[in-house]
Amino acid sequence: MFDRKPCVYIVGHDYQIVFNTDAHGIAWVEIGGEVFPDERDGLMRSETTVHRATVPVEKLDAAKKYAVCFRALPERKPYWPQLGETERQEYAFRPIDWSDGLQIYHVADAHSHIDEVIDAAGYFGDRLDLLVMNGDIPAESKTEKDVLAVFDIAGGITGGERPVVFARGNHDTRGKYALEFTDFIGTDEGRTYFTFRTGALWGVVLDCGEDKLDSEAEYGGLVCCEPFRRRQTAFLKRILENRRSEFDAPGVKLRFAICHIPFMTELMGESGGKFDIERRRYAEWTALLNEMGLDLMLCGHQHRLYAFLPDDPMMRYGANFPVLVGARPQFVRQGEQGQDRFCGAAVESKDGRITAAYTDNLGWTERALDLPERKEER
Ligand SMILES: [Fe+2]
Ligand SMILES: [Fe+2]
Repeated sequence: MFDRKPCVYIVGHDYQIVFNTDAHGIAWVEIGGEVFPDERDGLMRSETTVHRATVPVEKLDAAKKYAVCFRALPERKPYWPQLGETERQEYAFRPIDWSDGLQIYHVADAHSHIDEVIDAAGYFGDRLDLLVMNGDIPAESKTEKDVLAVFDIAGGITGGERPVVFARGNHDTRGKYALEFTDFIGTDEGRTYFTFRTGALWGVVLDCGEDKLDSEAEYGGLVCCEPFRRRQTAFLKRILENRRSEFDAPGVKLRFAICHIPFMTELMGESGGKFDIERRRYAEWTALLNEMGLDLMLCGHQHRLYAFLPDDPMMRYGANFPVLVGARPQFVRQGEQGQDRFCGAAVESKDGRITAAYTDNLGWTERALDLPERKEER
């Protein structure tokens, strides 16, 4: 049986429809009679409760609906396996509606809180086009239930009917389920850094991994982010080599970068030296990002709200793009008085302008950014 609602992640030019079940079995997605199987190397995956089917963006955008399908398989026998009846659940899908501009809601740092995050992200109502989940969604990935906070929040906000972009945060990487975490999100074959394209929007997702050096005692030798970041330098260079099919592809009008940690800001040094890592590498990342004509970078991690223009003294490494740090969790600890609050960012691109507001679950809003139309320089 199906457990949570599916998440429709964008990666590359595809949607990855990820959904879970309460038993092992085979699964697929149907769109207009066409089958998109959850398979690997020509075999239907079955020894799992988390399934993924990949479908081209245009196909689902045109069909505007899909069905997730499942047949339980208690035992993967080599011959004559006995499958359960087909279970099928249909979902409507609303692709990005450009007619009223682009409405993005940005959440990060939910740290296992669900309801307040869903409430805050209701800001655009039905007009929501895209949900950005920018890391630290569970407090840690200790159990499968922790990781399922991703489905609980995405399902609560989108109902499986809107696209989602997921960028991993440093808390997502901690605990027994840290490696399984990527089974629950959109990835480029397991890689948590990738580009994506839908309509006029192009984006790049980066993953700093942990926020302290690999040698930090609390990690106990389980963290190996330095080579992981090195691979992302190469990834950014490849994007520049392929610019004509990436950010400079015909029809691209908006370019976003998404990364949990605002590595290109002075915020890195604010909480003390041990968080101020990888300066040379992050300077190089920033120089490479500067070549991409980014309209906006979305970050979280700080648990405070900031909007920086390129000339802000808080910006580092000569970054030439604005940065919105758009998530503030304020959760009441046990025994304390007060109300749980979660603040995310409502980002809108309309008539060539990008605006952003901070909004929370109690109806509070405040202007964050108002960016003038970017002059086409290329
Ligand atoms: Fe956080
Ligand atoms: Fe974080």
